[in-house]
Formats: sequence, C-alpha cells, structure tokens
Amino acid sequence: MATILVTGGCGYIGSHTIVDLISNGFEVVSIDNNVRSNVTVLKGIAEITGVKIKNHKIDICDLPALQSVFEEYDNIQGLIHFAAYKSVPESVQEPLKYYQNNNNGLLNVLACVKQNQVPNFIFSSSCSVYGNAAELPVLESTPIGKAESPYAYTKQIGERIIQDFALAEPTIKHILLRYFNPGGSHPSAKIGELPQKGAYNVIPLLVESLLKVRPIFTVTGVDHNTPDGSCVRDYIHVMDVASAHTKALQYLLKNKVPSNCEVFNIGIGKGVSVLELIAAFDRATGQKMDYSIGEKRVGDVSSIYGDATKAMTTLDWKPKYDIDAILSTTWKWYQSDSKTSKIN
Ligand SMILES: NC(=O)c1ccc[n+]([C@@H]2O[C@H](COP(=O)([O-])OP(=O)(O)OC[C@H]3O[C@@H](n4cnc5c(N)ncnc54)[C@H](O)[C@@H]3O)[C@@H](O)[C@H]2O)c1
Repeated sequence: MATILVTGGCGYIGSHTIVDLISNGFEVVSIDNNVRSNVTVLKGIAEITGVKIKNHKIDICDLPALQSVFEEYDNIQGLIHFAAYKSVPESVQEPLKYYQNNNNGLLNVLACVKQNQVPNFIFSSSCSVYGNAAELPVLESTPIGKAESPYAYTKQIGERIIQDFALAEPTIKHILLRYFNPGGSHPSAKIGELPQKGAYNVIPLLVESLLKVRPIFTVTGVDHNTPDGSCVRDYIHVMDVASAHTKALQYLLKNKVPSNCEVFNIGIGKGVSVLELIAAFDRATGQKMDYSIGEKRVGDVSSIYGDATKAMTTLDWKPKYDIDAILSTTWKWYQSDSKTSKIN
C-alpha cells in the first residue's frame, strides 16, 4: 500500500491534514520530534478517524535518523513537509535557531526525497513570503517582497531551495502551498491548536487572554495603513488548509501537472482586521473581550490577503468555513476535555 510521510504530523496543521488524508483513503506515517507538539494528538486523530497513526519521534535535522525512517517503507508515494518553527517574534529574537531548524531540516528532507525517489513533495510555505505587498490581494505571480522577519526569510529560502531542486530532479513533482492565517479546530474538538512556548498566533492569544491564562490582549498597533489602523489578515480554517493538501496530493498523483513545481495561495481572499477579529470572537463566545492598544510589533506586515482562485480552479479546492466558524470551533476546542488533557 502507498504511504504518505508527513513531517510535523503532531503539529497543528499536520494533525488536521492527517485526519483529512485518512478520510480520503491515504495511509499516513508521521515524523515529529514533538519539540512543539504533544504526541497525545495521535489519540485525537484515532478518535476521529478510527485509525492509529505511527509517529517516528526523530529530529529532521538528524539526517541518518531521518534516512532510517524512509528505509522502513517501500512504497512512499508522497511527502508533506510541515516540520518547522513558526513564530515571527521568536524568529526575530533567535534567528539562528530558525535558519538552523527550518532550512537545515528542509535540506535533509529533500536529500531523503532524492535518495528514495519519493515522487511527490508538498511544502508548507506562507503568505509572509510576499512581505509588505504593494497591491492586494496578492496573486501567486505577485513578486516576492522583502522578508519582514527571519521566519519569513526561512520560507523564501525554502521556496528557492525547492525550485532549484525541482529543476535538477524533473521526475519529482513539487507543490508549494502559501497559507494565509490558519485558525479554528476540527469540528469535533478532539484536535486543535496546542499552545506552545514561543509559538503564539493571534487567535490563541485572544482565547488565552479571555480565559485569563495570560494578561489582557494587546492590539499590536492601530496606526497601520489599514481601514481601522489594526493589522489585516486573511484567516482560513485549518480544515480548509488541511483539505488543500489532500487536493494537492490527489492532483499530483493524477500526473497531469504542467510543471514539476507549482505555487498556490491558500486563503479565503478576504482581509479581516484585528479589531474585526475581536468583534467576531465576542460573537463566538457570547462575551465581551477586554483589550489594550500597544505598539506595532517588529516583523509584522500591516495588511495581507490573497487571491486563491488558482487553487480553487486547478486543485478543485473550495474553502468551506468563514471567520465565525473559525472562532466558534476554536472556542469549542479550548473548552473541550481533549485540549485540557494535552497541554504540555
Ligand atoms: N500556523 C500558521 O499560522 C502557519 C502559517 C503559514 C505557514 N505555516 C507553516 O506550516 C507548518 C506547520 O505549522 P503549524 O502551525 O502546524 O506548526 P506547529 O508548531 O503546530 O507544528 C510543527 C510541528 O513540527 C515539529 N517540528 C519542528 N521542528 C522539527 C524538527 N526539527 N524535527 C521534527 N519535528 C519538528 C513540531 O514538534 C510540531 O509538531 C510550518 O512549516 C509553518 O511554518 C504555519
């Protein structure tokens, strides 16, 4: 049977993608050292799908250990590469850690893909590669901008490495998915985003401030060049991001690709400001959230939203959830026993 390897399979997007892959008939194996996740997420995956997934607890920066995983499976038809660090502020404070993990990790994964001739490769890229784009929404053809953080630069370098690799390896097909801002959780609330040190995104910050696990939520700047002055992002439900991977894999497996390295935006195509996000969060929780106004954060772009028409037409992918569903599934997850039992 064909195996799909998923690096970072115990992480937020990886775990939701595994659920979607299994429900579409794929056999999946995870590789994750759990540096930013908890292996108990596999229990949630099993409860949703009825399938127990194996996780190889190894660091992708350890090339011999990574290679040994590939040797265990004789029919690997695809690899989806999520494993990376993802926090913009942490990357500003500890840039070397980010280049070391995200870029060396990718190089090792590609070395194994080459050595084992894995035919299909999908990479977690990010809208951060566009930087502060002059025109919105961004299209895949929008020029790559100045990286506003070391994290964003790891994704730009990652894309370039894969593009060069694809030219040299014409028999291996590659897709780069540029996600906008993933949020929400599986509707069952059996898996979701686990808060990890140094890896906070705006939605977990909102929830934890409301729950008083952390201080009052701070809006990072209301002097951005946006309609209400707060940062604007394109929020996309994590199950929609997950299904984009399944669709991308199915597309690659059909073998009709015009090029062996293609890029797709994965977003809703609508900008939502932080102040609008707070209002939507109030609707989801039925509570009024307190917040303060702070300074702009180094490394943040003011506004970014994308046009995902290419993914919708080429991959036959269609996002199903809106901002209210993103926040209501997040809230349900935070109140669930599944989450409470998995906090590290
Ligand atoms: N969540 C977002 O907002 C977002 C947006 C755009 C792109 N991305 C990208 O998507 C990918 C997945 O993001 P996520 O939100 O699921 O993050 P996450 O932190 O929840 O998951 C990443 C997983 O990779 C694992 N990992 C990290 N370094 C590793 C290593 N050296 N060896 C083995 N495992 C390792 C972690 O333990 C974790 O389980 C990342 O590449 C991230 O940069 C995320």
